[in-house]
Amino acid sequence: MSDLTLKIGRLVLANPVTVASGTFGYAEEFADFIDLNQLGGIITKTVTLEPRPGNPPPRIAETSGGMLNSIGLPNVGVQKFITDKMPFLRTLTTKIIVNVAGKSAEDYPEIIRILDAVEGIDAYELNYSCPNVKEGGLSFSANAHVAESVTKSVRAVTNRPIIAKLTPNVTAIGEIGLAVEQGGADAVSAVNTFVGMAIDIPSRRPKIAMVTAGYSGPAIKPLALAKVYELYKKIHIPIIGIGGICDTNDAIEFLIAGAAAIQVGTANFWDPCISIKIVEGLQTWCRQNHIQKITELTGSLKIK
Ligand code: SIN
Repeated sequence: MSDLTLKIGRLVLANPVTVASGTFGYAEEFADFIDLNQLGGIITKTVTLEPRPGNPPPRIAETSGGMLNSIGLPNVGVQKFITDKMPFLRTLTTKIIVNVAGKSAEDYPEIIRILDAVEGIDAYELNYSCPNVKEGGLSFSANAHVAESVTKSVRAVTNRPIIAKLTPNVTAIGEIGLAVEQGGADAVSAVNTFVGMAIDIPSRRPKIAMVTAGYSGPAIKPLALAKVYELYKKIHIPIIGIGGICDTNDAIEFLIAGAAAIQVGTANFWDPCISIKIVEGLQTWCRQNHIQKITELTGSLKIK
C-alpha cells in the first residue's frame, strides 16, 4: 500500500481527497452512498452568523461543460449548525472542516469564536470567494490588504488550522495567496467558481435569476490548474486544489501542479460515490507507478 497521508499545517489527512463546500451538504445526505470515513476530509456548506434563505430561483443551470450556480449561501446559521448538524459530523472519524462566510470583516472572527467552543471541528475554511451574494466574501479576497487583515483577525481567535478559499476572479491570485499566508492562514483552497452566465435565447432572459453566477465543473479544470500552479510558484503554505476534478487523473494533475490535497465539487452531483472512487484510484495509481508517498507528487511538474 502507498502512503496517502499528508499534512495541511497541523491538520493530518488520511488521504488527499476532500469534498467541496456546497456540493456535499452537511455530509449526512451522502451517508447512504459512501463510507464517509474513507474521505480525507469533509468541507461543510458555508455557515454564516444568521440563517440565510439564499437567492431566488432559478439558481442552477447546466451548460455543456459545467454548471452555473447562484445559490446565495443558504444555510441554517451558526447556532442551528451547532445544534442540528454537528452531532452527526462529530460521529465521523474523517476530518471536519467548517466553511464560514461573513457579511462584514468582523463577522469572520465572531463566527470562529463561536465555533471554537464546539468539539469535533478540525479546521476552518474561510469563504472569501462566493461570487453570488453582494457580501459573499469576494470583497475580502479581491484585495490583498483586506484578505491579509481578515485572516489575521481570525488567526487571533483560534489555534485551529485555517484555510482561505480563494476566488479565481482576480488579476493576480498569487498576491492574494501571499497575503493570506502573511495573515496566518495554514493553507489555501484554490479555486472557487469563475463568474459566468447563460442566456435563454427565445426569452432573451438570463438562465439564472441573479443574471451572473459561479461556473464550475469539467470546463474550468485547465483554468483552475493554472491558478494552482501560479500559487505554487508564489506561496509557501499548502494548496488544496479544486476546479472540475472528475476522476483520478484530474486529481493527479492537480497534485503535480502543486496541490497537496484536492476537493471534489460539481462531480458529486452526478456521482455521489466519485470521491471514494478517486481515493481508491489514487491508491491503485500510486502502487502501479511505484509512488510510496503521495506527497512525492506535489509540485513534481517537469518543465523541461
Ligand atoms: C453559493 O452558495 O452561492 C455558492 C457558494 C460559493 O460559491 O462560495
